[in-house]
Amino acid sequence: MAENRPRCAAEHALAGWHKGATPRDTHRVALPEDSYYRRDLALVHHRGFGFHARACAPGILALLEPVRSREGIVLELGCGSGLLTRELTAAGHRVIATDASPAMLELARSYAPAAEDIRRLVLPGDPLPPADAVVSVGHVLSYLPDEPAIGQALTAIARALRPGGLFAIDICDLEYGQARRDAPNVGLVNDDWAIITQFSLPEPSRFIRQITTFVLNDDGSWRRDDERHHNVLTGTARVPALLAAEGIHVQVASAFGTEQLPAGLRVLIGRRTA
Ligand SMILES: C[S@@+](CC[C@H](N)C(=O)[O-])C[C@H]1O[C@@H](n2cnc3c(N)ncnc32)[C@H](O)[C@@H]1O
Repeated sequence: MAENRPRCAAEHALAGWHKGATPRDTHRVALPEDSYYRRDLALVHHRGFGFHARACAPGILALLEPVRSREGIVLELGCGSGLLTRELTAAGHRVIATDASPAMLELARSYAPAAEDIRRLVLPGDPLPPADAVVSVGHVLSYLPDEPAIGQALTAIARALRPGGLFAIDICDLEYGQARRDAPNVGLVNDDWAIITQFSLPEPSRFIRQITTFVLNDDGSWRRDDERHHNVLTGTARVPALLAAEGIHVQVASAFGTEQLPAGLRVLIGRRTA
């Protein structure tokens, strides 16, 4: 019977990741094609929100230097429009860039054409190709539906790492919500796009962005779109114990290098030790 079968170390760790939750390391979460970052928000992100990937790039490149010198493969998760991908390939890395959003991938194909491959990969269920490094910026794992799904994705990342491999990713801690408890709405206006974001924190571990975009059409009219982004905020201090079972040593840090990251955003740097 299923409940009597022996459980591997990773399953024990996953079970403890979220009290009362069932580990779902074989469960595939099918996202509809247009769940996050449809055409207009993908474009607005690319044009107006590149500062985060660019700020993270120097620290990530320094961490990845040993991987570059042995011409290892860097797997990027949630590459978006290719903002970090392009920094990686410009520095000489071999990159497989992946994302769930077809609109983001289309932008990435033209913005970061030097990547070895740019393909759709939906976390946490799609298989990860083996890699010498896994990188991800823009709290991609925080988009997963719940804590077990985040645990499943972290375990998949650990298992994709070749001997000597490392990962460097950012993720929203519970502190991310505390820091934005009373965050005011934000509006940005540009010549050909505008964005309004409303924030809410219905629970300490759930952060919601209600996003409205306006993008200028060729005929001078404006089109509107609305997306609702749900982020799960997690206790990142638990990650080292979770991934120790996978032979990965994890350091929880406040930055990849010397950059200043938003309050409550944490960096996980993991190295395969076994
Ligand atoms: C805030 S954006 C960051 C994009 C890019 N890394 C950057 O920094 O510009 C988050 C990205 O995560 C992707 N994403 C969300 N859920 C995902 C999932 N389940 N699997 C893979 N990618 C996902 C989105 O499509 C989006 O491109």
